[in-house]
Amino acid sequence: MTPTRAPIRIAVLGAGTVGAEVAAQLLEHREEFEARIGAPIALSGVAVRDLDATRTRALPRELLTTDSRSLVLGANIVVELIGGVDQARELVLLALESGADVVTGNKALLATHGPELFAAAERVGAQLNYEAAVGGAIPIIRPLRDSLAGDHVRRILGIVNGTTNFVLDRMDEEGLGFDEALAEATRLGYAEADPTGDVSGADAAQKAAILAGLAFHTTVPLEKVWVEGITGVTADQVRTARAAGQVVKLLAICERITAPDGTEGVSARVHPALLPRTHPLAAVRGANNAVFVQAESAGNLMFYGAGAGGPETASAVLGDLVSAARRHVIGGPGLIGSAGADLPVLDHGVVETRYQITLAVRDEPGVLARLAGIVSERGVSIETVEQSRAGSDGTASLVVGTHRAREAALAATVEALRDAAEVEAVLGVLRVEGE
Ligand code: HSE
Repeated sequence: MTPTRAPIRIAVLGAGTVGAEVAAQLLEHREEFEARIGAPIALSGVAVRDLDATRTRALPRELLTTDSRSLVLGANIVVELIGGVDQARELVLLALESGADVVTGNKALLATHGPELFAAAERVGAQLNYEAAVGGAIPIIRPLRDSLAGDHVRRILGIVNGTTNFVLDRMDEEGLGFDEALAEATRLGYAEADPTGDVSGADAAQKAAILAGLAFHTTVPLEKVWVEGITGVTADQVRTARAAGQVVKLLAICERITAPDGTEGVSARVHPALLPRTHPLAAVRGANNAVFVQAESAGNLMFYGAGAGGPETASAVLGDLVSAARRHVIGGPGLIGSAGADLPVLDHGVVETRYQITLAVRDEPGVLARLAGIVSERGVSIETVEQSRAGSDGTASLVVGTHRAREAALAATVEALRDAAEVEAVLGVLRVEGE
């Protein structure tokens, strides 16, 4: 290709595992990228905190700078991979306001400041691409934003956190306890040194906010995502699930729902749930991610692959980069996702699901009848009951499976059971999904 125009200048902010990989591939495969884009490109620099830090990919020293603002102001496309929220927001806004396109993999930034950033991009006609923010290498943002823009997405079930999927998978496969499985994830490098954001569900909640916003053309604030992590999931629960043909997964669930008063809205939630082993998401092993989309016309779609990793995530970032660069060649304003439907995000209490409640009870006459009364008084219907034979202490375990009911009624049922004299302990509560 004979370059006939000035190169498109690309700035990479951050040289961690993904940033260093993106920069290295831009240098190694520049000509191939130029052929795909139809214009010359130049990596104008890589902003880092420490010029001498050890990196997963070696980068030419002369490209490194600690002056990220100057780098941003001289670029046509800014690739933000520094993570965190405040500095990233400042630099992304600076880039967009100067007319540059932005590619980011920063889920925390988008989940907390998405509307502000999209508005800034729209104002100047710039592109804000973020395929790497959810599901690492898996193409899911573009399919939701573009390919399914003519359909109606009803529901998304996602395994969007690799650390927790790895932990639950080891508990399922090897019968490990939570602590043991997490220690293995840390030893093998799947879990970060501080895995709090993963096991608490916070990381998955950021991704759920992004997916729900895109799928339902609505702004979904992070604080409206209901979150429960996996720290309370026991080896017993996982073993019992396995014996019953189920598996425990941490799911991000985004749905169109209708409140009892008829209000149409959306909900987004993250929690561990029982899935039948026949569900496509049950086959997602190790640290992989998958997003199962249910759309009115398209039916069920499954997007599966690596949710993290340097080269894997760089693949999504570079795809976004090529797309943004092509727009520079063609001209015209950038594509943005639409939030035009502006649906209300409904309270978690109106969500419908099923509960499986495991109780330790006194094995005495009338106990089952009284507990059934507590459940039905809250408008919840029992679907299954399984009781184990009582031990020598007279305590039996009772597993109650409910029919579908609203969260508020189900949660009130669990509280009432907890307070009941016949119940020695509520041993566990898991939602049942995917049936
Ligand atoms: N900590 C995340 C995970 C990495 O375990 O999936 C990608 O967001």
